Amino acid sequence: MKALVYNGPCDVSVVDKPNPRIEKPTDALVRITTTNICGSDLHMYEGRTDMQAGRILGHENLGEVIEVGNAVDRVKVGDRVCLPFNIGCGFCANCERGLTGYCLTCNPGNAGAAYGFAGMGPYEGGQAEYLRVPYADFNALVLPPGSEEKENDYVMLSDIFPTGYHATELAGVLPGETVVIYGAGPVGLMAAYSAMIKGASKVMVVDSHKDRLALAEKIGAIGIHDLEGSGVAQVLELTKGNGADRGCECVGYQCCNNAEHEVPNLTMNNLVKTVKATGGIGVVGVFIPKDPGAQDELAKKGHLAFNFGEFWFKGQSIRTGQANVKAYNRQLCNLIEAGKANPSFLISHELPLSQAPEGYKNFDARKDGWTKVVLKPGA
Ligand SMILES: NC(=O)c1ccc[n+]([C@@H]2O[C@H](COP(=O)([O-])OP(=O)(O)OC[C@H]3O[C@@H](n4cnc5c(N)ncnc54)[C@H](O)[C@@H]3O)[C@@H](O)[C@H]2O)c1
Ligand SMILES: [Zn+2]
Ligand SMILES: [Zn+2]
Repeated sequence: MKALVYNGPCDVSVVDKPNPRIEKPTDALVRITTTNICGSDLHMYEGRTDMQAGRILGHENLGEVIEVGNAVDRVKVGDRVCLPFNIGCGFCANCERGLTGYCLTCNPGNAGAAYGFAGMGPYEGGQAEYLRVPYADFNALVLPPGSEEKENDYVMLSDIFPTGYHATELAGVLPGETVVIYGAGPVGLMAAYSAMIKGASKVMVVDSHKDRLALAEKIGAIGIHDLEGSGVAQVLELTKGNGADRGCECVGYQCCNNAEHEVPNLTMNNLVKTVKATGGIGVVGVFIPKDPGAQDELAKKGHLAFNFGEFWFKGQSIRTGQANVKAYNRQLCNLIEAGKANPSFLISHELPLSQAPEGYKNFDARKDGWTKVVLKPGA
């Protein structure tokens, strides 16, 4: 089959790889029809993780089941399924509690497994023609009839829609509250969309990219163009000097200042400044335990110069981590089916798999107009 592999920093290519096969009776095989490039892929693409060369990338996958193992009972050949980026077993202490982003058995020695992801187990990614899905009965979300027509909406259930929603859950967003979101990438836009769905009274999204802020405004949020670091003052002005009730970090450890220079503590400290006293902060942007490629000495060790004093003094709280996609994907799927959510609004490019390297290059450059790339391996 054709698949997109990581060769080394800023080098990916589409090559021939052996087709996956059923390895355990609980597996299913899926023919991928849509698979997205994610901001998380960019950390790997840039060589800022320990991703091994030759591995297939891709954790935002949707397709048709073409084969199931003998122990797969619920999912049938022909079903159209969206796969959560996390792989869970369904029977460990974390999966039992719905914390499928932290499965204890799928990636022994670590909590959490995913397709085509550094440090998250041996599983291949889905930026390919076919994908092996472990514990298919537990992991696959079977889509409603006619799902093909809204495939570009449903594919967002694999990661960014639930992840954006998770950011608002971690922050504790309630109806009527004000929310500030750092990052207007796909995840930040989905956090803004989720805050809207929850009935936030005011949603502010901070970024330096005007094309992305325009999308935030399109869904009713206030785009804050952080020119020369003025975002903090703008948020405070919009919240009568108090700060927002809730804040979401949707950028991660490679966050930058306006000179595009990495300042890993920037968004976290800006959140402390722009969230009200006693407010909640949800962090879904990825931070990692070690970052040898960082320019900053602390960041190399996975540490941040965090403004803990102001954070403590304001009595704020922080919650962090991978989204447990299965905790939300069914309900968000219902919103799409009912026509009440259309997360595909943020797609800028739809490309065949053969053009995936071009998609990576432009999305990584955050080139004007490149917000979210979906790949169509069957095209
Ligand atoms: N927790 C999870 O489960 C999960 C799931 C998916 C993605 N992620 C992570 O979410 C993050 C965002 O991913 P994405 O797909 O939206 O892509 P992205 O990386 O393109 O989006 C990040 C956005 O942040 C902006 N930005 C950079 N520095 C900033 C700053 N100082 N202030 C405000 N905005 C700033 C960039 O201009 C960009 O638009 C990544 O770290 C990704 O790994 C986490
Ligand atoms: Zn993703
Ligand atoms: Zn588990």
